[in-house]
Amino acid sequence: MVIIHAAAELADFLKKERLTRGLVGFVPTMGALHEGHASLMQQARRDTQVVVLSIFVNPKQFNENADFVNYPVTREADLELARNEGVDVVFLPDVSDVYEDSFQTESANYGDLTAVFEGGKRPGHFDGVVSVVRRLFKIVRPDLAFFGEKDLQQLAVIRQLSKIEFPRIQVIGCPLIRDEDGLAMSSRNVRISASDRGHALKLHSSLLDVLRCSKTQGDLHGAIDRNRDLLNEDEHIELEYFAAVNGKEFSILKGREVPEETFVIVAAVVGGVRLIDNCRLGCS
Ligand code: PAF
Repeated sequence: MVIIHAAAELADFLKKERLTRGLVGFVPTMGALHEGHASLMQQARRDTQVVVLSIFVNPKQFNENADFVNYPVTREADLELARNEGVDVVFLPDVSDVYEDSFQTESANYGDLTAVFEGGKRPGHFDGVVSVVRRLFKIVRPDLAFFGEKDLQQLAVIRQLSKIEFPRIQVIGCPLIRDEDGLAMSSRNVRISASDRGHALKLHSSLLDVLRCSKTQGDLHGAIDRNRDLLNEDEHIELEYFAAVNGKEFSILKGREVPEETFVIVAAVVGGVRLIDNCRLGCS
């Protein structure tokens, strides 16, 4: 496994690899890697010949400085995991390699998609995500890029970025991975205390309850309202949103019909840690 820090060196290295080996698969991350990230690397390993992993804690996508400062950094363990997953190249850029001289983001405006839910609750977040992914796509020039469905809205935003600016890059969404107790895997989970974990797990159980009620009673909207109330009643949970949406546009589902692309999405702060989760309606 090769480790490269400079953007120009990576571009040069990949030029040769592309010619001799084939498709380039790209897994962009902010490190603090877990099994969710490993599943992206495995998918990239299956689908492409050259697997590139980037680790860059992007300061511009944290709308709260405390979240940036407290973001876990586990560099040695990350490299070990990448090695075990058969990654070919790890790209570890500096801020100057990614943002060059300006350290500015460009505003990402894809209408409601970038304005609602995560866009509304985390001002500037998608500007930071899109700016860094755009820059990384330009450096790596992957054939396929892999993102987790846990960050479902981010995935939809990146699909839009790719459609408009990088039509040759295929964006692949990979399933959300959960811990054994059901908590959606996230780098921030290490910051949840044992006692708060029980509260955090209610996010998943609420999603499952909506799924069950929608399937067995056809009562999606009632189940959404009931579970939102239950989460709001728990004083350890600061609920930000709990809604059924179209997973491509993030418009709120209104009628009784439940199209295939419907997801229930949730975001909440539990014990000072912001968590998001989602569940596709109609999945088992
Ligand atoms: O999902 C993440 O880890 C980040 O948002 C990403 C896509 C690597 C951009 O910094």
